[in-house]
Formats: sequence, C-alpha cells, structure tokens
Amino acid sequence: MQLARTVYSADGRVLLSAGVVIKDSYIDRLRKLGFPAVYVGDPVEAESFKEAVRESTRRRAIAVVKESFDEVKLGSSLKIEPIAQVVNDIVDEVVSSREVILPLTDIRSHDDYTFGHSVNVCIISVMLGVALEFDDLTLRELAMGAILHDVGKVKVPEEILLKPAPLTSKEWNEMKKHTLYGFDLLRGGDGLSSRAAHVAYQHHERSNGSGYPRALAGDGIHQFARIVAVADTYDAMTSDRVYRKGITPFESLKVIKELASDDSGQLDKYVVDTFLANVVPYPPGAKVRLNTGEVGMILGKGEYSRDSVMVEVKYDASGRPLRKPTIITVLDMRVAQMV
Ligand SMILES: [Fe+2]
Repeated sequence: MQLARTVYSADGRVLLSAGVVIKDSYIDRLRKLGFPAVYVGDPVEAESFKEAVRESTRRRAIAVVKESFDEVKLGSSLKIEPIAQVVNDIVDEVVSSREVILPLTDIRSHDDYTFGHSVNVCIISVMLGVALEFDDLTLRELAMGAILHDVGKVKVPEEILLKPAPLTSKEWNEMKKHTLYGFDLLRGGDGLSSRAAHVAYQHHERSNGSGYPRALAGDGIHQFARIVAVADTYDAMTSDRVYRKGITPFESLKVIKELASDDSGQLDKYVVDTFLANVVPYPPGAKVRLNTGEVGMILGKGEYSRDSVMVEVKYDASGRPLRKPTIITVLDMRVAQMV
C-alpha cells in the first residue's frame, strides 16, 4: 500500500510524504499519534483532484490558529494580523478555484480538532459566501468571523471541553458561554470588523429560536452567523465520521437539509439550499460500489442534477478490472456505496 496524501502533524510538519510504501511500524506510530485513518492509493491520481484550498495553506492556517488561541489562553490579547494574512490566502484560493469541493482531507489527529475545525468552518463559509455572491471585503470579514467563531472556548475550563462523558447541566451552561467569551474577546479588536464578533456571539442561535445564548430567531440572527452555523454543523458531523465511524458526507448533507426543513427550522433554508447546490456530496477520488456491483472512482459533480456525480467505472461486478474504464453519470448516489 502506498500513501496517497502526505500526512502532517498538528503544527504542519510533514510526518510521512505521499508516495511512501506504508509499513506496519508507520501504522503503529500514526495510531499512537491519534490518526484514525490515512489516504492510500496512487499519489498522482490523488493529486489530480484539486481542493478549493491547498493542503499547505490549510496546514499553515491550522498552525496560526493554534498559536493565536494558545496565546490568548495564556492571557495575551488576540493578534489579528497573522490570522488576517492566512485568511486572505484562503479567500483568494477559494475565489479562484473553479469547482466547489468540500474540504474532505480532514483526517487529522484528535488533539488538533478545534483548530482543524475552525479552519474547515472558515473554508466552507467562504465557499458559501462566494456562492451567495458576496464582494471581496464582505468575504474577508465573513472568513475572519468564521475562523474565530469558537475562540471563546479558550476561556472554558479544559475539564469541561475535553470531558469524555456527557456534561452536567452546570457544565453545559459553562460550555454555552463560549459564545459570550468569544464576543468579548473579539469586540473592539484592532482591525477586526464588529461583524466577526457577532459570529462568535450568534453561531449557536437557531432560526426557530431554539439556540443560545439569546434565543434569537430568523432574520434576527446575523447572516454571517447563519452561514457559519451551517458550516459548523456540517464539519462537526463529517469529523465524527472519522472518529466514530459515524456518517458519510452524503448522509451529513441529508441531515443538514432536514435541519433546514419546515419541521425542524434550525438552519437557514436559503443558506442550506445554496450549500446543497454547490457542494460535491462525495469526495473526488473516493471509491464507490454501484448497485450493479461495479466499482469505480468519483470524478466530480455530474451535470444533470444537484445529486448526480461522475464515476469512472474500473472494475466489473466480479471484481475484474475493465480493459477500458468507462465514465458514467450516477444520478442517485443512494445506489452507490463508498468502498
Ligand atoms: Fe461554537
């Protein structure tokens, strides 16, 4: 087995380069470091699928966020400049990438969850902002709010944040305060729009008024916060997939859709519709088995409908490689399963 994508440590160092042949000792070591999975396969094939944001940029952003949050934890004020720089790169790359593809290379070690999550939420929010035709300045303000949405968590005691069991109601109330802490940390920050502070304050508000801390509803919630709520919910769900073998991106999208339905009303319908219309529900490069038994690889979004994808069929139903792979459009991905 060959490693298809480079594995990075939480601080952005290369642990194993794409292309190396994976030995048992590497697997043991990665497991000890908390990596639940790695990408295997042909690195050239994996490389041909362009991400909306380069892995190196994503890694750099994670490192900057980690450093900034750690400093705030130790009592310094938040330095906006380094975050603004890497956020600018993220916005530039998302704007110039032609296809909107979810950042699915989020197989990461457990300990950098908060930071990886912050960066993913930023990337997804910017994609949404682009789809909503925000201008450049608005995109950058949204991106700053998104990457900093959970900064208030640095003020929540670690025994609550990392508790491996359900929280008591007292602990849960403290956890909820990360929205207020975040608002206080960002309010009046030098070079930071007040809209970013409102994202931290309002990202757990829900359209039907069931959120916190103020139970705001509908348009009473800032549009940026409604966008970040969708990105936050989606990324939290797909990360669970890695840790707990939970749900696939495709299933997560269905849950997101439900959360915006009239019955639920938690997420903003317009934002969710925009999200669903612009994402690829399966990661390009992923292997799928069709209902015919044939096995292929996802190439990208299909042209016929929102849910369709293009698949290169490589193996027949009995597992024999096809002499000439064929490219087909699968209209309903429920007939296909990830393998
Ligand atoms: Fe949060």
